[in-house]
Amino acid sequence: MEKEILVRANKKFREEVKKGLTTQPKFLPSKYFYDKKGDKLFQQIMAMPEYYLTDCEFDILEKYKSKLTAYFAEKNGFDLIELGAGDGKKTKILLRYLIENNIDFEYLPIDISSNSLKKLEKSIKKNLPEVKMKTLQGMYFSVLEKLSEYNKRKKVIIVLGSNIGNLKHKKAVEFLNNIQKSMQQGDLLFMGFDQKKNPQTILNAYNDKTGITAAFNKNILHRINRELKANFVVDEFLHWESYNPETGTAKSFLVSKIPQQVKISALDLNIDFKQWETIHVEISQKYTDEVVEWLAGKAGLKIKECFSDNRAYYKNYLFEVDKK
Ligand code: AVJ
Repeated sequence: MEKEILVRANKKFREEVKKGLTTQPKFLPSKYFYDKKGDKLFQQIMAMPEYYLTDCEFDILEKYKSKLTAYFAEKNGFDLIELGAGDGKKTKILLRYLIENNIDFEYLPIDISSNSLKKLEKSIKKNLPEVKMKTLQGMYFSVLEKLSEYNKRKKVIIVLGSNIGNLKHKKAVEFLNNIQKSMQQGDLLFMGFDQKKNPQTILNAYNDKTGITAAFNKNILHRINRELKANFVVDEFLHWESYNPETGTAKSFLVSKIPQQVKISALDLNIDFKQWETIHVEISQKYTDEVVEWLAGKAGLKIKECFSDNRAYYKNYLFEVDKK
């Protein structure tokens, strides 16, 4: 990353940590899980048997790749824009199929992590050298503005992994609406939404016995220790997962096991924790068709088709602009 971008990112991190830890009840934004260590832990999560989301989406892409290609392909070619590309493991199913069928397209992955973008570029160059690609580094929201520059030909925007689930409904509508505003008639959005299901299945996915999810969530405290010169004793916090089957919201917390004070030198701040006080760190929203339809409607989008795995654990929806 360029130095100036780094300085700005760091300023935002400091502000958000300060705000979250001085608000009652305390919270921290889950987007800060993803540093180098966090990226690795998340890859381990995706490989866990309990974390069904990845396998389901994998199956959906495998099962429907030819149908999706029929929707995507265009005689002048199209731009395939992926928000939050990560390691691109699932996207490669589509990319490979498009290449095998001589479809004309360019792949434009976008991610906040320049680290994972570089790795992604390297692995695509190696495994799928025929793919024309250009990476874009940045936050969804700022990069989305640049997206409308890509309107010389058809755009297909994809967002996999139920990443939208980290947003409360109001923010999710804003996010979808921003995407919608960058779309023209004929452009498509293909997005994954994890579904409501047996609450125990959901709890297990976010509360694995091996403790990988706990380490992933606690990584944010290590990151604050390192980047903001703090002294969190990470083992004095426990990972707690909850799921409300009525609202479909899974919430994770870090809970202070003891009364303690944490010093954050870079913020010149001392934070007191009562015993059993919480830091809310993530929501992972679970959806139904009705809720997705409602969100889409509010954002000016319409569902064209919905693709599900055979257990209906997870769904990918194809959206188009609802007339402009
Ligand atoms: C990457 C946001 C979709 O919420 O399921 C996995 C992150 N957190 N295990 C999710 C996550 C804990 C994941 N998303």
